[in-house]
Formats: sequence, C-alpha cells, structure tokens
Amino acid sequence: MTESSAKTPAWPGVIRQYHPLLEIAQDAEPVSLLEGNTPLIPVPRLAKVVAPEIDGDFDLRLKYEGLNPTGSFKDRGMTTAITQAVYEGAQAVICASTGNTAASAAAYAARAGLRCIVIVPEGKIAKGKLAGSLAYGADVINITGNFDEGLDLVREVAKKLPITLVNSVNQYRIEGQKSGAFEIVDELGDSPDWMCLPVGNAGNITAYWAGYKQYHEKGIAKSRPRLLGAQAAGSAPIVRGEIVKNPETVATAIRIGNPARWHEAAAALEESDGKITAVTDDFILETWRMIATLEGIFVEPASAAGVAGLRQLIAQGEVDVQGKQVVCIVTGHGLKDPEIVLKSAIETVTLPPTFEALERFLG
Ligand code: F0G
Repeated sequence: MTESSAKTPAWPGVIRQYHPLLEIAQDAEPVSLLEGNTPLIPVPRLAKVVAPEIDGDFDLRLKYEGLNPTGSFKDRGMTTAITQAVYEGAQAVICASTGNTAASAAAYAARAGLRCIVIVPEGKIAKGKLAGSLAYGADVINITGNFDEGLDLVREVAKKLPITLVNSVNQYRIEGQKSGAFEIVDELGDSPDWMCLPVGNAGNITAYWAGYKQYHEKGIAKSRPRLLGAQAAGSAPIVRGEIVKNPETVATAIRIGNPARWHEAAAALEESDGKITAVTDDFILETWRMIATLEGIFVEPASAAGVAGLRQLIAQGEVDVQGKQVVCIVTGHGLKDPEIVLKSAIETVTLPPTFEALERFLG
C-alpha cells in the first residue's frame, strides 16, 4: 500500500464525489459514511426468466443499493440532508418512515451528533429496520396509524418546532439521491434504455429522473432512459389515479397510499415516456425469490417490485427488451426483513448429527 492510498478512501462518498452537481451548500463539510458506489451487477440467469422469449441480446443489471452503509438507498439522500441540516445549525431531525429512512436518518444523525426522532407505523416495519433505528440511538415512536398519517404529523412538527424534516419532501434528500443516476451513467457510459424501480413516496423516481436530466443537459449522457415504476397492487395510488386510504402489501417499505412526490413522479413518467404498473404481493414474492436463488442477490420484498414490474410488462407485451440494456434498482438489503423469509414457506430440516442421516437426506 502506498502512503497516499492508505490515507484516501478508495471512494469518497456521494458528496465528495459529486459536490458541484448537488445543490447543497458548497462549503459544507460532508457528514458521510462513504455511501454510494454500489455495484451494478449483470444478472444473465434472471434475465432469461424475466424475458423468456428473448434469446441472447438482453442486458439486465441490478444496482444493489442494499450495500449502502445502513442497507438501503436512503443513505444517498441522508448524507446530503444531514450535511445541510448541520450547516444550517439544526439540533434535531425528524422523519416518518416505513423503516429505511428511519434507520438512515438515525445513523447520519448519530454521526453528526444530532438528536433524531423517527415516527413509524406500529407493527408494520421490518425488524431489521427497527433494530437499526434503535441501535443508532434514535427516539423511535410507534404510531397507531400508517406512513401517510405519520408524514402529515412530522410535517406539522417541523412547522411548529425547531426540528428539521428529513423525509424526501426535503429537497436536499433528492439532491443526494440523484447520485444513483450519475453512477449508472458513469459506469455504462450512457443512460440505459430502461430503468426500473419500486415507487412508494416517489422520492427516488423523482431523484433519478433529476439526475439523468442533469447529466443529459451537461452532455455527460447522450440519452435519457425510459422509467418503469412499480407499485404494490394493494398500495398503488399512482397507477389507480387516486389516494389509497388503507394501503396494504407484504412489501412494507412501499405501503404508502398518498405519495408526497406524486406530481413529480407523474412528470418523470411522462417526460421519460415511461410506464407505471401494479404488481401483486404473490408476484413480488416470486420475483424476490428468483433474484436470490438465481443470482445470489438478497433484497427486501419492496426491492423486488421493480424487477417484478419489468417482468409483468414484458409478459404483457408492453415493454420490448430485445437488444436493450435495462437497469433495475434493488433498493434495500434482504437482511432488513428476515421474517418474510421465514414466513414464506421455505422449509428447513432437522437431522441427527450423523453422516448416515445426512447421506439419506441428500439421496
Ligand atoms: N424501496 C425501499 C426498500 C424503500 O424503503 C422505499 C421507501 C422505496 C423502495 C420507495 O422509495 O419512497 O422514494 O418512492 N421507503 C421510505 C421509508 C418510504 O420510509 O423508508 P420512494
């Protein structure tokens, strides 16, 4: 190891990598956990199942956002939101969350020495997310309501008390999350033909589109992708064109009935000539299993929704991927939600610790 490589991180984190492209204070000292730089993994075995009719020329890749420091894409936006909050003198931050935003806010707040308050729907967040928020030292408040009601509550709190809101209604979150698009273009040399992702509160689709547009305007990308959004069938307000009062889905991360960035998501879908579709819980879980068993990539159920949406629209003849390059954002790590694996009728066996018993089992 040379002296300089020992001192400089191989990857400096989202802000240091892209600071001039991000509309946050340019003289702010980044609060970072060296987030970003996640792998864009080619998945040829999954591609064959997603598009069974196509032979050969279909380049499918997953951007594995579960490898961020707190296990989801939220860290890209939290580094910028917390950096700006500190710059502006905040002492405390708050968010409503289906779990991942909470864990990310808690970690970055801890790193910055800020108090963090997270509001989560009681009993409706995955255990790994709750554990993260608690471990990082946040004040975790369960509410007897859903995410949408939680978001209304924290908006009111941020208006009335000196506490900074770090949900994706905070524009600095969007600024950081644009970095996902930058990384994809930096690696591929241009935008993919399609980019697919799950849509909940619609911050991420807003951010990706802003990132692609910025790179395109600067001439760094020659083209812009078509966007493919996926919502869970029981929580699909944008697909249905109406607020869903009591959203339900196994993909608890996207159990959202009234997305805060609905308008921006609709604009991104229109400008990109994109599509949005609703996928059933069964189809999400089937796709989620395929991603793990065919490619060794363990994601949380919501993260599989984007791939499931792609699969569905190909099967319906709505999307043609022959000769195309497609990127799916898999947004959170599978270890966030271990219970879903155990609930999914995946069986284990118990044997005595002998060679004979094992040999008999293996056949
Ligand atoms: N995937 C995962 C794993 C998520 O946690 C979320 C959102 C999404 C997709 C959807 O992204 O909201 O920007 O459209 N989770 C938020 C949270 C709501 O509180 O963690 P979005």
